[in-house]
Amino acid sequence: MQWVRVLGTGSSVPEKVLTNFDLEHMVDTSDEWITTRTGIKERRIAAPSETTSKLALEAAWRALEAAQVAPEEIDCIIVGTVTPDMLFPSTACLLQHALGAKRAFAFDLEAGCTGFVYALAVAEKYLLAEGRGKALVVGAETLSKIVDWQDRATCVLFGDGAGAAVVGLGDRPGILATYLGADGGGAHLLELPAGCSRMPASFETVEKRLHYIKMNGNEVFKFAVRIVEEASLEVLRKAQKTVDDVKLFIPHQANIRIIQSAAKRLGIPEEKVFVNVEKYGNTSSASIPIALDEASRSGRIREGDIVLLVGFGAGLTWGAALIQW
Ligand code: COA
Repeated sequence: MQWVRVLGTGSSVPEKVLTNFDLEHMVDTSDEWITTRTGIKERRIAAPSETTSKLALEAAWRALEAAQVAPEEIDCIIVGTVTPDMLFPSTACLLQHALGAKRAFAFDLEAGCTGFVYALAVAEKYLLAEGRGKALVVGAETLSKIVDWQDRATCVLFGDGAGAAVVGLGDRPGILATYLGADGGGAHLLELPAGCSRMPASFETVEKRLHYIKMNGNEVFKFAVRIVEEASLEVLRKAQKTVDDVKLFIPHQANIRIIQSAAKRLGIPEEKVFVNVEKYGNTSSASIPIALDEASRSGRIREGDIVLLVGFGAGLTWGAALIQW
């Protein structure tokens, strides 16, 4: 039997740190409010010249190095992102060229903050169907460029970064199961309204600040807590594993209260939950691969451990992957 295994991970975040105290000078907020409501203390902000593809490139090089795989060996590149360098061409194509991954086909995948989990599941199914090859799966974002820095309800939540994983076929267990879902009925809860076919860019859309993230935080919060539990239980059921088999739980890093509520509902103890939201805020599709890379490099995941990844986000979308390391 063949499995798709994670061969190496990498991540990259911009140098510039924006703390809650910095935000106190920008909007009517406080470190106390942000910390108690979200768990976030600081986030990274891309420089004007720092694009999503640049962050993706650094993360990808680190993942390739860790996997000891050359760019020419990659067959498929998928970039999960809601902040591509441009609407087209895809950020994945820009990354493919920058890496010199000449053999790879490349495309972006837009599934909100679930982008990396969706991309991982698609890559796994593709490699299994082909019966050969290697894929580079990336989650990369520069959300600071689509955040409304006058809107205190959203600007305190998001940050920039990228994470990547090289995956390939092996004869030992790797990705044990994946589970993906979507509900476009909740599309209006988290959206960027203007700039495409529904509302092309105009003076009016710019004036009304419609090129920025709009979110109904309360509704997204309730959805998130429910869906993290549901997706986790479903992927465990598919893999015929239980919560007790999970060595490390890596949920999407949006808000510490969502993470803690979901972990409590699942009965996962605190020491098995990976949290780095305090350092980066919500980096959308980059959050899970950055966390996975930090967990792996810091020794929190060891050979044979079972890791549960769970994402949720705009769409609405959700997804989980159960991986044996
Ligand atoms: N600083 C200070 N006050 C703020 C604030 C800020 N940055 N942002 C909002 N407030 C205010 C609100 O205006 C509101 O004031 P009011 O009661 O006078 O109207 C008050 O704080 C409470 O707002 P509320 O929205 O009820 O807070 P909350 O406890 O629900 O927390 C979120 C808000 C956004 C942190 C929370 O809903 C959340 O995390 N939602 C999920 C968001 C998410 O994860 N999105 C990405 C999904 S991928």
